[in-house]
Amino acid sequence: MASLDQSGRLTAVFLFVSLSVSFQGAHCQLVVAPVGPTLVNARAGSNVTLAVLFGGAPDPVVTWSKGALPVLTWTIGSSAAADVAEGFKDVLEIGTDGSLTFVNVLLDHAGNYTMELTKSGLSQADTAFTLKVFENFQNVELTVQPDLLKEGIDPFLLQYSVLRGEVEQQRWLFNGTEIKTSSHYTVKDRSLEILNPNRNDTGRYTVVLTNPLSRVEAHQDITVLYGPDEPRLEARPAKPFYIPGDSLSLVCQAGGSPLPTAVWVFGDLTFPDSQDGVLNRTNVQISQGGVYTCKLTNQQTKEQRQKSMTLNVYEKPSGDPICSVQSVNVTAALLYHCQWPGGTPLAQLSFPELSSNSSGAGNFSLTVTALANLDFKTVTCMAAHPVEQNKCNITASRPVEFLPAVRMSVDSLGKIVVSLQCVSDASPQAVVSWSKGSEAVANGATHEISSDTTQLQIRGYNVSDFVQQKYSCTSRNPLGSQRREIQLQGPSISAFSLFPNPEGTVVTLTWEVPPTSVVTGFDIQVKGPSLPGEKRNGTESRGASDGYRTIQQKPGSARSTDVLALDPNLSYRFRVIPRARTTEGQPSEVRRLGPDEGLSGPAIAGIAAGIPCSLLFLVLMGGFIYLCVNCNKDKSRPARYPVSRAVEKVITTQSEMTPHHLLAGGLKSPPDYNKLQQAPSERSVALPTFVPPPPVRVATIV
Ligand SMILES: *[C@@H]1O[C@H](CO)[C@@H](O)[C@H](O)[C@H]1NC(C)=O
Ligand SMILES: *[C@@H]1O[C@H](CO)[C@@H](O)[C@H](O)[C@H]1NC(C)=O
Ligand SMILES: *[C@@H]1O[C@H](CO)[C@@H](O)[C@H](O)[C@H]1NC(C)=O
Ligand SMILES: *[C@@H]1O[C@H](CO)[C@@H](O)[C@H](O)[C@H]1NC(C)=O
Ligand SMILES: *[C@@H]1O[C@H](CO)[C@@H](O)[C@H](O)[C@H]1NC(C)=O
Ligand SMILES: *[C@@H]1O[C@H](CO)[C@@H](O)[C@H](O)[C@H]1NC(C)=O
Ligand SMILES: *[C@@H]1O[C@H](CO)[C@@H](O)[C@H](O)[C@H]1NC(C)=O
Ligand SMILES: *[C@@H]1O[C@H](CO)[C@@H](O)[C@H](O)[C@H]1NC(C)=O
Ligand SMILES: *[C@@H]1O[C@H](CO)[C@@H](O)[C@H](O)[C@H]1NC(C)=O
Ligand SMILES: *[C@@H]1O[C@H](CO)[C@@H](O)[C@H](O)[C@H]1NC(C)=O
Ligand SMILES: *[C@@H]1O[C@H](CO)[C@@H](O)[C@H](O)[C@H]1NC(C)=O
Ligand SMILES: *[C@@H]1O[C@H](CO)[C@@H](O)[C@H](O)[C@H]1NC(C)=O
Repeated sequence: MASLDQSGRLTAVFLFVSLSVSFQGAHCQLVVAPVGPTLVNARAGSNVTLAVLFGGAPDPVVTWSKGALPVLTWTIGSSAAADVAEGFKDVLEIGTDGSLTFVNVLLDHAGNYTMELTKSGLSQADTAFTLKVFENFQNVELTVQPDLLKEGIDPFLLQYSVLRGEVEQQRWLFNGTEIKTSSHYTVKDRSLEILNPNRNDTGRYTVVLTNPLSRVEAHQDITVLYGPDEPRLEARPAKPFYIPGDSLSLVCQAGGSPLPTAVWVFGDLTFPDSQDGVLNRTNVQISQGGVYTCKLTNQQTKEQRQKSMTLNVYEKPSGDPICSVQSVNVTAALLYHCQWPGGTPLAQLSFPELSSNSSGAGNFSLTVTALANLDFKTVTCMAAHPVEQNKCNITASRPVEFLPAVRMSVDSLGKIVVSLQCVSDASPQAVVSWSKGSEAVANGATHEISSDTTQLQIRGYNVSDFVQQKYSCTSRNPLGSQRREIQLQGPSISAFSLFPNPEGTVVTLTWEVPPTSVVTGFDIQVKGPSLPGEKRNGTESRGASDGYRTIQQKPGSARSTDVLALDPNLSYRFRVIPRARTTEGQPSEVRRLGPDEGLSGPAIAGIAAGIPCSLLFLVLMGGFIYLCVNCNKDKSRPARYPVSRAVEKVITTQSEMTPHHLLAGGLKSPPDYNKLQQAPSERSVALPTFVPPPPVRVATIV
């Protein structure tokens, strides 16, 4: 200030001197000039001087006025005291150079002051000052409105108040950075308005108040409350799903000021005890899966927010998926079915090979046209479950080739029951349709079709009810069919053998029956010495006419029997008569057991007939040679079944056969009756399926 005054004074001196020089010589002229700036700032209570310099004439009258009101008048150089206006008496003092000094200047004294110099005969000179008086700032306060500051559209206002002190300038700072009026801030007369306040407006606000003589700062720390923000929900450990027994924590967090409090809600349950938004679930169960909602509250602003998440607790269905295939309609389509019920969620099932776009949950059926390409095609059902991928296979197939089975029995009424069975492997299971001749068979008194259609039972008292009839079965599913015909035969035996034990006391008889032959029982007949016990029983009735006696009766299922207590020194003949209830079939061949009898009855008969017969023999030989020549041309004559060794070793006689049979049976050179070996009867054309065990030793060759 001192140096400024100094330079101001120098300027004034220079001005005064130049003025004096320019007007000297012509006539006297009053001049006056301020020393220093005309704007004078003074602190209240201090002494301040409005300094001037004048010249041109000695002892002029000086008048200081505040505004238009003269406050002090004095003649410079006079000994009289200055004339001071009331109210300024203790304040104003005048110097000999006309400068005005304020002692203990007060705010009231601020104003425009003019100084006039007058001297009689001279024109008046004047100069003007502006005095400003400032107090020191006192009790500067910064207040904010409203009380609760929160992020949003409601602006808030920072206001300062000053008990004392003239504010010439206000400056606002935020975190030390000056604030300018903008879309966000409006600087007003004594306040700062913050528009659309947000969390970034939290911080220290400073107002800096200045006037030329003092500067003061006031601070206010402001927190703009916000939140809850968008919550972040997560499960830890993070997994797409959990299985029963897992332990996990659900965490709910959201930004906010103050930090919001969280409450988890699951269904009707609230978990207020969850701390910091953490909800612990141990040994989680299926029932605990579902939607969990986290509710957040800013306790100060009461703002609320909520967000939900789904807790997936999954359990795989029990067992494995099951595939099956059914006929929708015997002729039309296949229904592929795949099932894996249970579990959470239900497994997603599909047959990708059959349809790429359809699937089902837990239970899935797909109907497709039964095309040939599905025959024997393994189709896989893909069973997708979050916990486990699984699959099952199913193969549809048309009925395969099969052999019908025939069984006979006698029911309680004494009827013969023939069961025909046509079972063919097929998927889906084949349905069998039956026909007799060209007519379809329906359930009735004589015909009964089983519920699964694979069996047909025919009942009748008389075997002639069965034979002659052509039955057929057709096994069918959507992928195809198989047809078989069954022609039933009357009772017959296809192969008959006997196997004696080494001692020759026991013989095992075995026989076979053509598969389609209707047989309900067998009579075992013997011819020869009586057997022990046989006589006692006295059942010697049947076959008595031709010397054969029935010694055993066997059920239709029997294919072998033992005859005990034979005398190895004696000779026996055996045969089997097949029966269909009361109807007897053709007897089997006859097998002989025992030592050579020497000349057998037929042999003696042969010798007795020898002489007449030799003539016949010669004739026959001639015919025979002729036949051979002819027959040799026909090489395609069917080969005989090879004679099995077992059969070979057993002496077989055909003595009971007619000569026609002999001729047809063995077209051989001279028939040696004793050594005649006979192929099994031509009657048994059906292949014998029974292969008798080879005997340990040969029975009786003499
Ligand atoms: C102001 O002037 C008066 C009388 O001249 C003197 O007593 C007082 O100490 C001065 N005040 C200051 C602050 O210089
Ligand atoms: C002082 O004078 C200035 C112009 O010189 C004027 O603007 C101001 O209002 C005056 N002040 C008072 C208190 O009369
Ligand atoms: C706060 O400031 C940060 C960093 O400058 C910015 O990313 C964010 O968007 C601001 N928030 C608001 C609500 O303006
Ligand atoms: C202002 O300062 C406060 C306190 O130091 C701080 O928390 C806030 O982030 C700051 N704000 C800005 C926008 O820098
Ligand atoms: C939740 O479990 C964690 C550890 O897994 C533990 O630190 C925390 O205290 C538990 N919280 C509650 C509320 O039980
Ligand atoms: C099965 O097919 C027959 C004709 O072949 C038809 O009349 C019948 O409505 C079909 N049944 C179903 C269940 O589709
Ligand atoms: C699946 O695709 C077939 C053709 O590829 C279409 O005919 C059928 O409508 C589709 N089914 C569905 C359920 O989209
Ligand atoms: C599956 O669906 C079929 C019909 O599409 C229904 O007959 C069967 O009962 C269902 N099985 C289960 C276990 O739901
Ligand atoms: C299903 O069939 C595929 C081949 O067709 C085979 O690789 C797979 O092992 C089968 N799956 C089952 C369960 O039999
Ligand atoms: C069996 O039927 C045939 C022909 O139908 C008949 O000649 C015979 O007498 C019948 N036998 C019995 C025991 O009914
Ligand atoms: C003996 O005959 C009686 C009836 O006369 C019969 O019940 C019994 O079974 C027969 N025994 C044998 C071993 O054939
Ligand atoms: C069989 O005959 C022999 C002698 O030829 C004799 O020793 C044996 O005892 C006879 N066996 C029986 C069971 O009669």
